[in-house]
Amino acid sequence: MPTTKEGLQRLLDFFVYGMLRAAESLGNAPVFLRSIEEEGLRKFLLINFPNFKASANAKEACEAYTKSIDVGGLFATTDTIFTGDENTVHAEIGDLCPYRRVCTMRHDERMGTKKIPTFIEGLDDVLGGGFPVGHVVLVSGLPGTMKSTLTYAILHANARQRDAKGLYVSLEQTRPSLEAQMAAMGFDVEAVRSDVHILDVGTIQKEVGKSASKPWMDFLRRTMTTKKDIDGVDLVVIDSLEALEVLAKFEDRRTELFRLFEWLRDLGATTLVLAEAASEASYLGLEVPQPRRDEAFLADGIIELKMHPISDVEIQRRIRVQKMRGSHHKTGFSALVFDEGHFQVVPVISP
Ligand SMILES: Nc1ncnc2c1ncn2[C@@H]1O[C@H](COP(=O)(O)OP(=O)(O)OP(=O)(O)O)[C@@H](O)[C@H]1O
Ligand SMILES: [Mg+2]
Repeated sequence: MPTTKEGLQRLLDFFVYGMLRAAESLGNAPVFLRSIEEEGLRKFLLINFPNFKASANAKEACEAYTKSIDVGGLFATTDTIFTGDENTVHAEIGDLCPYRRVCTMRHDERMGTKKIPTFIEGLDDVLGGGFPVGHVVLVSGLPGTMKSTLTYAILHANARQRDAKGLYVSLEQTRPSLEAQMAAMGFDVEAVRSDVHILDVGTIQKEVGKSASKPWMDFLRRTMTTKKDIDGVDLVVIDSLEALEVLAKFEDRRTELFRLFEWLRDLGATTLVLAEAASEASYLGLEVPQPRRDEAFLADGIIELKMHPISDVEIQRRIRVQKMRGSHHKTGFSALVFDEGHFQVVPVISP
């Protein structure tokens, strides 16, 4: 982040003005504001403006963007007026901005992005068709909320129904243990062995040995790139982010996560990253305030899994799509029902 006045001016010219002119020359100024949230300035914002909070809500994203550049010192103060809702926002950039512009941003303009179906009954409807190809999606939930089982089921179904190639990076369990668990849950593990490759912690440990620094990440990246080059990879599961952090010895968490997610996007596969939720401890009577975590901003989508008490004795599994960039998805909780290798996502009946 440059600290001189000239530096800031150059940045402003380079990023904002340049992008706006480019957008105008294409006759599509709205693309500019949308790009801020979706692609273009995200990298710049996340690294340089720690206060920036990406959001799937167009209006919120605009406001967050303006506020963060205020804090970053690019503008004196915010005088931009936002009207609209989560899908369409009209932004009137105030006089304090040297590049006064009026534009409207629609959040759903990118609809039509290619999707990967989950083949989980009911879930593709909730998702608006599936996961956008190439996105990094967090699957978050407390232990036992079926993160591993659900994501394995998605790889399994994609392998069976459309011969898609899956890679399950199992950092908490060995391959035999994961396969035994999935077989016990009712999945035909043998049937997808050639399409669902499981890379486990034991294998990585053996390969990596005690060599140079950062061997984990390097090995993981190399293996995934090789796998992609040889067989192709459509879907990747990383189970789990917490295990990866410990094994790969993340030092600067935010930067390392940012690089990992960017790298995964460049890989071209769609990635599901399993993460332990921090926020759903309330049903245990624990109400610990949690800071919003970096991965939630950096990911393109978040699926939340939880156990919901419906009476003193009964608990129901629930699922919701918390965010999914570039998708018209439902936002409320649905029930997640599991029986013998078969998941169903159904509307919640009891409160
Ligand atoms: N038929 C079944 N056989 C075994 N476990 C089942 C079955 N049906 C539901 N479960 C539940 O699934 C849970 C395990 O699911 P899974 O391992 O996918 O959860 P997870 O979210 O990955 O947990 P963790 O955070 O511990 O890795 C068990 O705790 C159990 O409650
Ligand atoms: Mg698990």
